[in-house]
Amino acid sequence: MSQHSPGNTPRLPGKPMTVPAFVAAKSTGTKLTMLTAYDFTSARLLDQAGVDAILVGDSLGMVVQGNDHCLTVTLDEMIYHTRCVARGAKQALIITDLPFMTYQVSAQQALISAGRAIQEGGAHAVKLEGGERSADAIAAVTRADIPVMGHIGLTPQSIHAFGGFKVQRAEEQLIRDARAIEQAGAFAIVIECVPAELAQAITEAVRIPTIGIGAGAACDGQVLVYHDVLGLYGEFRPKFVKRYAELGSTIQAAVQAYCDEVRRGEFPGAEHEFR
Ligand code: KIV
Repeated sequence: MSQHSPGNTPRLPGKPMTVPAFVAAKSTGTKLTMLTAYDFTSARLLDQAGVDAILVGDSLGMVVQGNDHCLTVTLDEMIYHTRCVARGAKQALIITDLPFMTYQVSAQQALISAGRAIQEGGAHAVKLEGGERSADAIAAVTRADIPVMGHIGLTPQSIHAFGGFKVQRAEEQLIRDARAIEQAGAFAIVIECVPAELAQAITEAVRIPTIGIGAGAACDGQVLVYHDVLGLYGEFRPKFVKRYAELGSTIQAAVQAYCDEVRRGEFPGAEHEFR
């Protein structure tokens, strides 16, 4: 497999991505790239393709575990998947989601959970959801020098409170949330499913990078889910997803060809046999 030449990335050639380099990208106007991954092979592919950051997202509850939401994902599961990703990614910044109910109880709980993601999983940073309400947790974690990425807008762990996956438009509250996260010490903020003009206003209101998903082009970077980008997950197709490949149908065609050849007695051929 060929190594990617980084091009317009804040990453120095041949050097792993760091949190300070990630933050500095905002001041140079260098767009940041982030994708999710949950296992060794996909993390290695993303890393070699030159993505700046890999998010081990709790979206794995949907795209890996097959649930309708991410609320059942546990910290142990996140740590397991982070370990797999960390073996595959040598250059990208690895950020692990703190799953539902592993940071909401208290700032101390957040610190313990974040510490496990770093120490047992091998993550470089953690992500947790919520604005003002999560500021104490973010402050406690960053005081221990664990970098935190915030997440505002459509926060999937609040799906029942929101009544579904809906665009979030509470302008003043979202700007307050972003400022509270920055003030608490977060190094970046994911903005999910927010009108593009509002995401731009949030991006201009903070000095840390904003990473958009369904939040328009003015954000300092973009994130998407691996399975969505590659056409592997058909159950739910949000408007903001662009599919860069249709690997689902490619895989199905390959598996059908394999089954056909086995059934016709064409595979294995002589070249696959030991003599
Ligand atoms: O879990 C996840 O994949 C995420 C992204 C959608 C930002 O939080």
